[in-house]
Amino acid sequence: MSRFVALVPAAGSGSRMGSALPKQYLPLRGEPLLRHTLRALAAADAVERVVLVLSPDDDRFDAAMAAGLAKLEVLRCGGASRAETVRNGLEALAATLDADDWVLVHDAARPCLDPAEVGRLIAELRGDAVGGLLALPLADTLKRVGDGGRVAATVPRGGLWRAQTPQMFRHGLLRQALGRAADDGVTDEASAIEALGLAPRLVAGSERNIKVTYPDDLALAGLYLDARNAQ
Ligand code: CTP
Ligand code: MG
Repeated sequence: MSRFVALVPAAGSGSRMGSALPKQYLPLRGEPLLRHTLRALAAADAVERVVLVLSPDDDRFDAAMAAGLAKLEVLRCGGASRAETVRNGLEALAATLDADDWVLVHDAARPCLDPAEVGRLIAELRGDAVGGLLALPLADTLKRVGDGGRVAATVPRGGLWRAQTPQMFRHGLLRQALGRAADDGVTDEASAIEALGLAPRLVAGSERNIKVTYPDDLALAGLYLDARNAQ
């Protein structure tokens, strides 16, 4: 039976957030943002291990930060790009995973992930030949910008989806895909798989699973967590 392992790249500096503290450590409802993310993954029954990949230079993650988090393993082999961080994490897992085991790569910066969605993603994809990802159809009308900040064109949004995470692929295939990919433009695992000529499946996700990128996102993430806790 294949196993399911979550891999959480958390070696970024959060430059767009503009805070001294990397965004994964910013306080969110009384706890570092990252703890919400790790707890959500561990709460999905099928997930056996939650593997966190930090930068080797990270001096903020300590025992207190890990306290009480189930299934957690910490690696300190993050790289200069997200793809490199994931690649290094997969490499480190090679000794304990089979090529057929599933890896769910999830951004540290997505703390509002609902454990039920992880379960749904696994249920939808566990029999799939390629794997896939949570994603959402675009809701807004799209404009291509031209000279002087004016609209050059309206881009038809039909068939366009926004990629989220987790992105779920078999360990062997993902390692092969990321091993070949040049990191430029590989902002998610699916694009590396696509570069092999394969077509990952899109599984409809939730608007709440936002990636905290800019300061306003942090406030919104707090509201989504409140809403879930109130249920
Ligand atoms: N990430 C990583 N290693 C890197 C860069 C990014 O593990 N070298 C991780 C981030 O920590 C984050 C996820 O990839 O959990 C998504 O990346 P992003 O939102 O772009 O985070 P940052 O790169 O930290 O932010 P920014 O691009 O604004 O600097
Ligand atoms: Mg980044």
